[in-house]
Formats: sequence, structure tokens, C-alpha cells
Amino acid sequence: MSESCCCEKKSDLSLLEGVLAEYAPQKGSLITILQHAQEIYGYLPVDVIYHIAERTGQSPAQVMGVATFYAQFRLKPVGKHPIMLCKGTACHVNGANSIEKAITEKLKIQDGETTEDGLFTLKTVACLGCCSLSPVMMISGETYGSLTPAKALKILDELREKEVAAQ
Ligand code: FES
Repeated sequence: MSESCCCEKKSDLSLLEGVLAEYAPQKGSLITILQHAQEIYGYLPVDVIYHIAERTGQSPAQVMGVATFYAQFRLKPVGKHPIMLCKGTACHVNGANSIEKAITEKLKIQDGETTEDGLFTLKTVACLGCCSLSPVMMISGETYGSLTPAKALKILDELREKEVAAQ
């Protein structure tokens, strides 16, 4: 019988083998290993954390401690289309809050959460560096400016329709 929880998807640990072979014997390389693991899996699944702990001779709690300490690490999968919604000063003044409200109501997620279908993750950020277009959001690297709540929702609808059409 498997030791891992039945609701936790099993990761292909062999994908990490090259990284572990190179870095596990080196002291102080835990962050590097975690960075590579996140590149491979898109986030840090629990079974990967346990595997890294075992291979580096540390306790799972120690590895989890590092993974949760640094903001660069994600412990949950990110949606296919990460939404970075700017809430910097210019965007805030120009209505970022009403856009966030429209998005959270439509997608039924809060900041930092992912939709059930795995399509969208919402993340509010401080400034995307294009304040003249405020309010702004960036989705999968594309910038959408001069947003209104209706415009933001239309963009999400279009992305979702594209995904459905591609299935
Ligand atoms: S404040 Fe939103 S892009 Fe700068």
C-alpha cells in the first residue's frame, strides 16, 4: 500500500534525479534544489519535499521550513493563466479594487488561489511598471491596460473560451 495520502497526486520523482545527483551531496544547496524542483513541477508538491528531505539528510520539517520561508516558492499548483493584478498606487487610484472584486466574484477565488479547473491563479502585485496604462493586469506575460471590471471579465471569458475550443 502506498504511504502517501490517497488525495495527493504522485509526482514523477525521477525527473529530479539529475538535480539531486548533482546538488544533494553539496552542503548548503537546499535552495538550489528547491528552485530546480519548482522549475520541473511548477510548484513544490509534498511528496517532492519528502524526497528532497530524504536525499539531503534533512527532516521534512526543515525542508518545508525553507520552502515556506521564501516567497519565491509555491506549495500549490499555479493555474495555466496566472493573473497578476496590479494594486500599486496608480492602479489603486484608478480602480484596481473594483477590478479585483469583479475577478474574485467571477472566478470564485481570492488572492493567491487557483480556480477549480486549474485555469487561473490570481495574484495581486505592487506595480507592474506600466502605470500610464493603469489599472493594469498581466496574464501569461501579456499586459492588459486601462481596465474596467467589464473589460477584465471579458478578457477572462475570452481566455476560457479559447481553452474550451482547444480541448
Ligand atoms: S501602479 Fe500599477 S503598473 Fe504601476
